[in-house]
Amino acid sequence: MSGGASRYRVQPGGSVGGELTVPGDKSISHRALMFGGLAQGVTRIHGFLAGEDCLSTARALADLGVRIEFPAPTEARIEGTGMAGLHAAPGVLDMGNAGTAIRLMMGLLAGAPFASTLIGDASLMRRPMERVAQPLRLMSARIETEDGRPPVRISPVPHLKAIQYALPVASAQVKSAILLAALNARGRTRVTEPAPSRDHTERMLAAFGVEVLKEGATIALEGGQALAAAEVEVPADFSSAAFFLVAGCLAAAQPLVLRNVGVNPTRTGLLEILQRMGADIRVRARPASGRAGGEPIADLEVRRSELRGITVPESLVPLAIDEFPVFFVAAACARGESVVRGAAELRVKESDRLAAMAAGLTTLGIENQLLPDGLWLRGAETFGGGTIDSRGDHRIAMAFAVAALRARAPLEILDVANVATSFPGFLELARGCGLRIEAA
Ligand code: S3P
Repeated sequence: MSGGASRYRVQPGGSVGGELTVPGDKSISHRALMFGGLAQGVTRIHGFLAGEDCLSTARALADLGVRIEFPAPTEARIEGTGMAGLHAAPGVLDMGNAGTAIRLMMGLLAGAPFASTLIGDASLMRRPMERVAQPLRLMSARIETEDGRPPVRISPVPHLKAIQYALPVASAQVKSAILLAALNARGRTRVTEPAPSRDHTERMLAAFGVEVLKEGATIALEGGQALAAAEVEVPADFSSAAFFLVAGCLAAAQPLVLRNVGVNPTRTGLLEILQRMGADIRVRARPASGRAGGEPIADLEVRRSELRGITVPESLVPLAIDEFPVFFVAAACARGESVVRGAAELRVKESDRLAAMAAGLTTLGIENQLLPDGLWLRGAETFGGGTIDSRGDHRIAMAFAVAALRARAPLEILDVANVATSFPGFLELARGCGLRIEAA
């Protein structure tokens, strides 16, 4: 199993091909659990991601009084308590490694009639929370952080009030936290985005019967609306499929087909970036399942491609925000130089992803330069191997596993247990399609 492994050993070279279905979408699974908990009635989730991050959300909701069962590994059944039915947790809420979980829970709990304290693992305890706490305070919430970081302490207030808020950075987590708090606020809240970020919250709130109005870059929501239970279909996670899209570009001996992938346009920036680099990726839309969630789904077919370096347009950065680790691997194998700017957000993810990727690429012998808000690098035909520190970041670990396809020597990737936060079964799927990877 990928969970629990402390390091990967990956043999160099090889090829990939075949068909696979990656696990369910992490962002959508978190939201389906939370909205199901807040709804009246029984919500069922199909294709649920039983990764550590989403299980942290499930445990927190259970501590707050929501009954959640897992009749099968990818099925969840939630007995919603309605907004008013939550009660104080018996202790602190530990959100593990999950940034989405802690930030959305801040919004969900800001208007609750009881106190809550949110913490996480060592990585989460270093991540910025004021970006969420500040707008929530404008709504009258009482929230304290410690130097901007967890623990986050939320105290009850008589009621929240609606706000009009312009997000300083494109962040779906901040937007979603405000919208969740807005459900409990008096009046109409308006959130304006500087650039589009993933819109799963807006789509799924609508699927739960909430009226969400979109006026250009502004999302408006009237407080006091109740959520009605829904049947949610979770597509395969584009962010997990991304590792195999790049693997296919680098080393597909025969086409690699990824089934049922979520292709919400606010998530597929990497697809456009890879296609601009010359990738042969075909998108075959699948008909809607009829279940709620409002998410478009497609099969993706990738063939080995000669990639060219790219200057990534800044407008694509929020639409590919979680895919940069594996993008840098694609760029390392492309002809010519590549550069990403306007991506300072990557420094406050599960690790400083710009620094982690720069260090790992240097180990492999890829010429690169770390920028304050991005990374420049020059691609190479092949490169060396060596020991890579993933810094406990799931996406750094998986990105370097893919890089081994073009290496001349084995790669040892350290600190990989957190792959289980987003991609349980990664090792088995990767091996099944041709990567020569083992847990060590
Ligand atoms: C997420 C939003 C993004 C993304 C994260 C998941 C979400 O974070 O990086 O993995 O589910 O809303 P930001 O909102 O900080 O950009």
